[in-house]
Amino acid sequence: MVDVDTGIDDALALLLLLASPEAHILGIASTAGNVTAEQVAANNLALLDLCRARDIEVALGSAAPLATPLQTTEDTHGPRGLGYAGLPRSRRPLSSRTAAQLWIDTARNRPGEVVGLCTGPLTNLALALRAEPALPRLLGRLVVMGGSFDHPGNTTPVAEWNVHVDPEAAQQVFAAFADAPRRPLVCGLNLTESIEMHPSHLARIAATARSQPVEYPTPDDPPGERSAATNPIVRMLSDAVRFYLEFHRDHGQGYLAHMHDPFAAAVALDPSIVELRPATIDVELTGTLTRGMTVVDHAGRWGRPPNVDLAVYTDPDAFFDRLIERVGSYAAR
Ligand code: BDR
Ligand code: CA
Repeated sequence: MVDVDTGIDDALALLLLLASPEAHILGIASTAGNVTAEQVAANNLALLDLCRARDIEVALGSAAPLATPLQTTEDTHGPRGLGYAGLPRSRRPLSSRTAAQLWIDTARNRPGEVVGLCTGPLTNLALALRAEPALPRLLGRLVVMGGSFDHPGNTTPVAEWNVHVDPEAAQQVFAAFADAPRRPLVCGLNLTESIEMHPSHLARIAATARSQPVEYPTPDDPPGERSAATNPIVRMLSDAVRFYLEFHRDHGQGYLAHMHDPFAAAVALDPSIVELRPATIDVELTGTLTRGMTVVDHAGRWGRPPNVDLAVYTDPDAFFDRLIERVGSYAAR
């Protein structure tokens, strides 16, 4: 069960899951974040059409965070959330269930078996918890991309985007899952900012997909230049990631793109790719400078046991080898 705010890197996370034979996506919840929930849902349906995976249910999430007006980030992900990629609008309908109900029904149908992966603000999951407080015990495991642990934020000096958009939801989810049989596995910026996609990675995906020409974006391309790749999945990826590369370059981070969400998806598929550290964390809700900060209690001062396992170390090259092989082969089908 996946909850996303698609989003360029969310799109790649979905592609990785679709390309992974051990994964079976039971449903996709669309959460407001990078773009509105309606646009996220439209992007999810369009991506599934592109991948001919039209049997997966897509549910619409809450239009707004729990307690604050929605903030979106079109400068990071493009006006519709997929950078320069222009996918045809799907004619497939959305689920008749809300995203929160999809979470509940999916977990209840297979108690203890479902892995939940969240790569956007945690609004839908927090709403689901209100209606079904047993959710932490019904899910097999929760994997979250969110927060920044003993590391700067990417939205405020201390807050990471997904937590920044809906801090109340994040606070409630991390508190509720303290009772879960298995602690949530959390991938924060402290690790995901080391997962740097470079144009050469895109070229390797294109080569694996046998897409022609094996081209890749360069910093000198005119902004908005579209890919001429013959393979539609490679073309979508290239046009989406080019926008993300330009965003990172324009913010002084180099011509690279952080693959936060695909990395969290890879961890959901195989937690052994990360070194984990149990930690007691909480979310700052009231600070005038620090709202949305994820705070780690290293010294046990709150007197609470660990409520999450933080991902603290990985091998980025091994991650990219797997991503390239899987997504490239999937695109070649
Ligand atoms: C997170 O923010 C979003 O813009 C990305 O999709 C990712 O989930 C990283 O902070
Ligand atoms: Ca995301």
